[in-house]
Amino acid sequence: MSLKLTADERAILEGKEGEARKFAMEILVKVAEGSGAERLIPISSVHLVLHAYKSAFDAGVIAAEKIADMGARFSVPTTIDPYGMDAEDWRAAKTPEQYAVMQERLEKAVMRIGVIPVWTCTPYYGFNMPRFGENVAWSESSAVAFVNTVLGARTNRQSAIVDICCGILGKAPEVGLHLAENRRGEVLIKLNVDRPLKDWEFPALGFRLGRLLGNRIGVVDGVKGSPVTENMKSLCAAAAASGSVALLHVVGVTPEAPTLEAAFGANESKQVVEIGEQDLLDTRAQMNTHKGRDVDVVALGCPHYTINEIVNVHRLLAGRKVHPDVAFWIYANSAAIAMAEKMGIRKELEDAGVTFRAGTCMIISPIREWGFKVMMTDSGKCVHYGPMECGTEMLFGGTGECVEAAVAGHVVA
Ligand code: F3S
Repeated sequence: MSLKLTADERAILEGKEGEARKFAMEILVKVAEGSGAERLIPISSVHLVLHAYKSAFDAGVIAAEKIADMGARFSVPTTIDPYGMDAEDWRAAKTPEQYAVMQERLEKAVMRIGVIPVWTCTPYYGFNMPRFGENVAWSESSAVAFVNTVLGARTNRQSAIVDICCGILGKAPEVGLHLAENRRGEVLIKLNVDRPLKDWEFPALGFRLGRLLGNRIGVVDGVKGSPVTENMKSLCAAAAASGSVALLHVVGVTPEAPTLEAAFGANESKQVVEIGEQDLLDTRAQMNTHKGRDVDVVALGCPHYTINEIVNVHRLLAGRKVHPDVAFWIYANSAAIAMAEKMGIRKELEDAGVTFRAGTCMIISPIREWGFKVMMTDSGKCVHYGPMECGTEMLFGGTGECVEAAVAGHVVA
């Protein structure tokens, strides 16, 4: 079967609704034909990844400006990933001037198209939250994995520019995870840990699953207790980074996986893998590319920290000061930071030596200028991208261990 367009879609392709919609339709038709879609389907929201000069480069900025110049407007709510530099004070973050100029050009272009400037990779916390079964077109691998896995909404991993086209038209090709038959489990993961997982074990499990699964759909059976959404955020982000996981079925958590049988549906498991406590410890050891105990920077908030996570750091720090030789940075969106400010804990954390990096992230903002050699984090995604994007060796641990290292100036055994 080949792609069939409706009369309205053909009219857009013929240019009857203007240059921008014609352009967007031409792109979507090419993507749909290339992926074997039979039709385009309505989507209710988009989340963009053309967000940071560090990943967009000149070509991405110019492309966004050209699309804006055509008079493009988003037709569905469209949010966007983190800003490419500290949104409150890029100069204090040592952002090169030329970089800032290009970031601001990119910002102006997407604003002209009508983006909702949330500048966060966790738009599902309060800005853009799809419901179960809803079709959306999101980029940002961690958010894609979260909405498929935790909310049961449906999206493929969209890419930059294609996501803009989806936003302009309010449509996406009906392929991959939009189709129920492609959402069934493929690999059974038996988790042999007879207690609720510790906070660091969620990203460690995600990291291990990403490497194991690639883009296959894993069914994780045996997660005890009731993970909070922040745990699931860490798990999904790590799996989506170390592999290209876009959907996990966590039995008892994922809406489509109330039972093991429901997670597999008509599928038979192609592989069964057992994971126990020692496997998670081994994975943790692999995540530590730095073998010493010294730390230059502790970076938390990948994906962006929620207000709950900021409160947790405040509690763990318990009035102590950050070591003068360590930078301790928290990345969060403007809403979480505003809430921390309102609660008075932003000031207390800053007085203790913590820096809030607003609306941006350690991976997609320029931080090589700081000359950090060793970064410690509680994020599996940050561990994956840190060496490549920040030029640092990585240390991984739970949030409490990160806080202790920040206070002591080194990893506390
Ligand atoms: Fe978000 Fe940046 Fe991490 S976009 S998921 S904080 S790499």
